[in-house]
Parts: sequence; structure tokens; C-alpha cells
Amino acid sequence: MKDKLLSEILREYDAYRLEQQEALRLRESEVQSTIPELTRLRQSLVSSFAEKARALIMNPELENMDIEPDKDKHLDELKKKESSLLVQNGYPEDYLSLQYRCSVCRDTGYAGDLIKEKCSCLIQRLVDSSYRFSELYGLDKENFDSFDSDIFPNHPLPGKTQLTQKEYMEQLRTLLWEYQEAYPDNPRKSLLFTGKTGLGKTFLLNCLAKAILDKGYTVLKITSYNLFEHLFRSSFQNNPEDSLLVKDGIFEVDTLMIDDLGTETRRNNFTAEELFNILNERYLKRKHTFLSTNLSLTDLREYYSDRVTSRLFDTQNTIILHFQGQDVRLRAKRAPT
Ligand SMILES: Nc1ncnc2c1ncn2[C@@H]1O[C@H](COP(=O)(O)OP(=O)(O)OP(=O)(O)O)[C@@H](O)[C@H]1O
Ligand SMILES: [Mg+2]
Repeated sequence: MKDKLLSEILREYDAYRLEQQEALRLRESEVQSTIPELTRLRQSLVSSFAEKARALIMNPELENMDIEPDKDKHLDELKKKESSLLVQNGYPEDYLSLQYRCSVCRDTGYAGDLIKEKCSCLIQRLVDSSYRFSELYGLDKENFDSFDSDIFPNHPLPGKTQLTQKEYMEQLRTLLWEYQEAYPDNPRKSLLFTGKTGLGKTFLLNCLAKAILDKGYTVLKITSYNLFEHLFRSSFQNNPEDSLLVKDGIFEVDTLMIDDLGTETRRNNFTAEELFNILNERYLKRKHTFLSTNLSLTDLREYYSDRVTSRLFDTQNTIILHFQGQDVRLRAKRAPT
């Protein structure tokens, strides 16, 4: 999906540049009819450029000389004259210059002197478009910056951890922060969040989603229920929109996040087979897949086939994180206001 999205956006950049060039052409002919002196000036400008180019062809040793037009004195003077003529006749001085939406990349999408990299305007566009494909809402509220460990109780967790729920969540935050810093080169491409309701699993998926989108990668986050509804419709009802989501989204997106695994409608072998296909295909392509579930590992084994759980529990490729403690939604309700 990233490539398709990227080429769609770049096509739009190209179209915008062509539009601007056409608009400039119209401005040029308008001005030439209202300021005849400008026509002569432009002709001198064009012949000065042509002279420079000819000189370069005849004397290749000039190649190392600076031939940037704005650094050339004569050309510079002509340009200045052009601007003042425009202003004298009531036009803005840059009326005959191309207008750029982004002055850094000049609307090409790529910037940099030696090595061309995606310009930040292009990354932003990729990010914005990804939001459209995904169930990614409220990332402005649920992100690493707004992570608040004070909402978790500061009592020791049962078991061996010795940590309080708050400390435990702080550690999870650090671990996932480092994960997103290393993204996309993490040796383990999958994350599995398990734990009961209200422990902050979806919140941390959102933190990761925002961080990964901000790096310019695509993210598709979808609840397991919706995912399998789309898959079912695309397999049996031939709905083009669902097929697109399956073809372009689920298999191609840089990071697929399946939230609430286990809440989907169970349809005999269909669910397990489709889930295996997704996990396996993405594993083979070395793509990231993050899942959250209220089911325990034992439940997952019961719910899905061995093929699915062997992929899910493959610790070479998956980091399994257990969320523990008290439901923060209940805690918030109980807290005095
Ligand atoms: N680190 C955090 N900082 C601030 N708010 C949080 C944090 N973690 C969770 N919350 C808030 O607590 C509530 C429950 O969190 P969340 O939805 O992530 O739980 P969950 O584990 O996904 O639950 P479920 O299994 O029911 O989907 C949400 O309102 C969420 O915004
Ligand atoms: Mg959740």
C-alpha cells in the first residue's frame, strides 16, 4: 500500500506542478500584452541564458565555473529590472515566478543536495492519507506524549514482578518507545498484547501508530471484528471496497494492527484460516503485525488452529507482552471527583 499511496501522491504533486506552470504561462502572456517593454527584457533574458548554455558547450572547461543565473551579474540585473517593471505596473514582484506550495522541495516531494530524501511535506501527506484507510482516531490524545502512568494504581502486582502496576506500565512504555525508535529494523516484527479489559492495550497501540505514522510509514489499525467482516464480505459477497482493503491494506501496509482479537464472529474454519494467511504472508514479507487480545494464551490455543498459534507464539518474531492489574476504566469511575 505504501508504494501505491506514494505514487498516487506523487502523481498529485506532478499535476500541481503542471497546473502552476500553466498558470505561469498565462500570467506571462497577460503581462507581455500589458507591458511591451517587458517582452524585450524577457527576450534579453532568454538570449543571455542561451549564450551561457552555448558557451558551456563550446568550452567544456567552463563547466566548473558557477553558472547559476542568480549569481551571474548580468542576468541578475535583468531580473531586477523585470521585478521593478512589474511593480511599477501594479503587479507583485514575483508575478512571473513559479509559486511553490513547499519551497523546500519545490513541490517535487524530494529534497536534499546530494542525496534526495522524502521532503517533510511528502511524509506528512503519506501520514494524512494513511489515517483515511485506518480506524485511527484520537491519536492526538492517545500518544507517547500523553501517556500518563498516574492513572495506574501504585500497588504491587500479584506474582513475582515486585513492581506496581504503574511501574510496570512505565516499563512497557519505555520498551515500546525503544521499539518505535528502532522501527522498521526491529528483529522481531510482531507484538502481541494480552490482558484483561481496561489495562491500556489499545492506548499503547495508538502510541505506536502515531509514532510510526510520524516516521512516514503506513499503518492500518482495525478491530478484529471489522477485519473479519470485511474479509468475509470480500470472499463471499464480491464487494470491491472490501477487496481493496484486503489486497492493498492487510497484506501491503507497513504495520497492521489488529485490535481485540477474539471478538470477531466465529465462522468455522474461515476465521482461523484467514488469520493464518495474514500472519503467515506478513511474516514472509518481514512486515510488522501488532495484535491485542483479552484472551489468555491458553484461550488463544483453544480458539485458533495450531498453525495460527505457532505463528503467534513464535518468540523469534513476536514479543508477547502481558498487561496486568486493575481495569483503569473502573478505577476512573470509582475515583472521587
Ligand atoms: N497510559 C495511559 N495514559 C492515559 N490514559 C490511558 C493510558 N492507558 C489507558 N488509558 C485510558 O484508559 C482507558 C482504557 O484503556 P484501553 O482502551 O487502552 O484499554 P484496553 O486494554 O485496550 O481495554 P479493552 O481490552 O477493553 O479493549 C481508555 O480510556 C484510555 O484512554
Ligand atoms: Mg482495547
